[in-house]
Amino acid sequence: MFRRYTNKFLEIKNMKKIAIIPGDGIGKEVMKAAQYVLDYFDLNFDYNNALAGRECFYKTGSTIPDETLKIAKKSDAILFGAITSTPNQKSPIVTLRKELETYGNLRPIKSFKGVKSIYNDLDFLIVRENTEGLYSQDEEIIEEDEKVIAKKIITKKASKRICEFAFKQTIKESRKKVTAAHKSNVLKLTDGLFKKTFYEVAKDYPNIETEDYYVDATSLYIVTMPQIFDVIVTENLYGDILSDEAAGLVGGLGLTPSGNIGEKYGLFEPVHGSAPDIAGKHISNPIAILLSTSMMLSYLKYEYEAKLIEKACSEVLRKGNVLTPDLGGKAKTYEMADAVLCNIRELE
Ligand code: NAI
Ligand code: MG
Repeated sequence: MFRRYTNKFLEIKNMKKIAIIPGDGIGKEVMKAAQYVLDYFDLNFDYNNALAGRECFYKTGSTIPDETLKIAKKSDAILFGAITSTPNQKSPIVTLRKELETYGNLRPIKSFKGVKSIYNDLDFLIVRENTEGLYSQDEEIIEEDEKVIAKKIITKKASKRICEFAFKQTIKESRKKVTAAHKSNVLKLTDGLFKKTFYEVAKDYPNIETEDYYVDATSLYIVTMPQIFDVIVTENLYGDILSDEAAGLVGGLGLTPSGNIGEKYGLFEPVHGSAPDIAGKHISNPIAILLSTSMMLSYLKYEYEAKLIEKACSEVLRKGNVLTPDLGGKAKTYEMADAVLCNIRELE
């Protein structure tokens, strides 16, 4: 309680601006859960809502209007729900990550007690490069319906930046090993440059173990022996795929948070998308966005509140009596969010 009290003074002195971008589909549902828990802490943040996604496109003609980018750029941190992709339109989340230069995407993969999953002892981190690779959104029609090209851009600068970020995060989290995942046996220039840069950066971190695997083998090992991984650093598309795969080992996409970090901004979002198969039913699991909210609070130096959310989420999963259907329960999104809040109150 004392910590909460002292925080109040800090808050008034240094009010943080938070952009809230719920998106659409279950993005809007899980964002309500995040706001419910944030409201409880009464941190005196200056919240600004902004639109993105397919519904936003129908309303404004853009999947990511300039106004949204403006709000995001004026914020200390951004909390993002999820969007449904729109044919022939730019991905709003890829655009946001690039515009904000949040080049480092942290995707922790952790087992939770009580969650039925393939493994129950996992704790590793996927670090995904966020600004280039095959997600340059630079595609070209060579011949309509016959030949199209997507440009994969790999630069020394971005590869160095993401590898350094991964090594620094390894130290910060007291981890021991970094594995680079790439496909340099086939993509000799692009992935070759990524791999070469990884080992150049590694020289500055002699106390951290390093290794590299081709990304196809990495995806095998993630299933067959995930315990070997501590930190995986990889390119944009590979990080996207490997993190969904890894989420499947620890209880699914309803549980995996992420943080996109750059020099100026932090953008936090669940790993999952808008889940059209369950959207509107209010049964989406709010844990992924609540853990993303916890990552955001930690980024903003509200460690106490961040830890409380994390612990309360673990408690709800351990007790197992209020779970959404993806985890075998019958609870609604708001019931699970409420259970997290009750546990926060108990833990305080
Ligand atoms: P998805 O992540 O939305 O769903 C994959 C599966 O996981 C579905 O079975 C869904 O029901 C389940 N799931 C996801 N989140 C869940 C949650 N919180 N609770 C319970 N179950 C959950 O991926 P999908 O279906 O491939 O894509 C749907 C849409 O989302 C597409 O338009 C896609 O482009 C978009 N997308 C957006 C992302 C973002 O906003 N960052 C990321 C990934 C996909
Ligand atoms: Mg994805």
